[in-house]
Amino acid sequence: MIIITSPPAAFKGQLTMPGDKSITHRAVIFGALANGVTEVNGFLDADDCQSTLDCLQSLGVVYTVRCGSLVIQGRGMDLKQPRTVLDAGNSGTTARLLLGVLAGQSFSVTITGDESLQKRPMKRVVEPLRLMGAVVEGEGSRLPLTIRGGKLKALSYRSPQASAQVKSAILLAGLYADGITSVEEPYTSRNHTELMLAQFGANIQVTGNKVSVGGGSRLEGTQVWVPGDISSAAFFMVAAAIIPGSQVLLQNVGINPTRSGIIDLLREMGADIELREQRFWGQEPVADILVRGGAPLKAISVRGEQIPRVIDEIPVLAVAAAVAAGTTIISDAAELRVKEADRITALTGQLTRLGVKITETEDGMFVEGGSELTGAEVESCGDHRIAMALAVAGLVAQGKTTIRDAEVVGISFPGFMAALHSLIPK
Ligand code: S3P
Repeated sequence: MIIITSPPAAFKGQLTMPGDKSITHRAVIFGALANGVTEVNGFLDADDCQSTLDCLQSLGVVYTVRCGSLVIQGRGMDLKQPRTVLDAGNSGTTARLLLGVLAGQSFSVTITGDESLQKRPMKRVVEPLRLMGAVVEGEGSRLPLTIRGGKLKALSYRSPQASAQVKSAILLAGLYADGITSVEEPYTSRNHTELMLAQFGANIQVTGNKVSVGGGSRLEGTQVWVPGDISSAAFFMVAAAIIPGSQVLLQNVGINPTRSGIIDLLREMGADIELREQRFWGQEPVADILVRGGAPLKAISVRGEQIPRVIDEIPVLAVAAAVAAGTTIISDAAELRVKEADRITALTGQLTRLGVKITETEDGMFVEGGSELTGAEVESCGDHRIAMALAVAGLVAQGKTTIRDAEVVGISFPGFMAALHSLIPK
């Protein structure tokens, strides 16, 4: 349970964000498939990435934590048949990316997940993997799924969604295929897979929204520096922006343009955000983000190709919209319905309890800004990002906000509450 009593004094200070979740998953999976050792510095030590590590361990991968870094002994492309069912927990990235890898293994394995993950769509990866020659069995293409792979056929695939998980699963399977496998998306989704696979030595080509990988590419172990997660930083960006007098510096945050929609959109709303010390960690751009609070915010409209760049930050963006002048419209975001919770229903339901005037639409929401928020009892709906967004809303709600089932923040940000407390001046 999280209890927020507001309004707090202005937030002051600096924070280093936990490692990027998407990049950590990829670093450990690619490291497992590489020849030699991969060292992952600044990895995210949270439940979702632990699910990936546990599955890889069952697949014969050995790893240790040395001086705060993950050290993975790569197996090359061939993994070991596990004795048990693989459990991806709450993590869609674990399940979908591993399905791509398992499609290339010459054994049969079953993968499952928790109650939420068992409801999430897997057809989007199962269909292309079947086209490549993998045999996948399961009811209605939901987890649990049993997959038997082997030698795969290359595929040219046009994905109906802009989804990095779908793109990554196909590219990983493509490493095991004859010839060149390509994925084209309607809009560019996060591109960590293509950037990092190239760093591991794969033959990757990117043209517009299309990514191709050469089959038979061998991966070589490397060192990865994981930037801070912009999706975690987003909660503090909004918290600092909406509490007058705040000044918060978020250090070493990844600002990859396929992920940095939250910076652009908060600036468009009028937030005072400065990017300092822009540099690269490997292929990934990084900056220190300074947010000063109190600038008046105005409503915006978010849709189309902006959506994949901000998909995980929409819960907290809705909180910023709740205190902005005017009505914010979020559309083309039906993907939110198939995240860890149905985030459209969860957000509108829980923010309404706090007094936000918010209306659910089929593919998004209208958020009417400027209403007085009042503390209330709300729930995470089993979703880490809903829990943290509600905590930020609680900061500007009068009185006490209690968030039930809030331990789910451990999925991506176990130290979230400690980080929030550290910004309250003593
Ligand atoms: C992720 C991709 C996105 C995102 C998820 C992480 C990834 O999902 O919402 O939190 O690491 O590839 P989709 O690929 O379903 O858009």
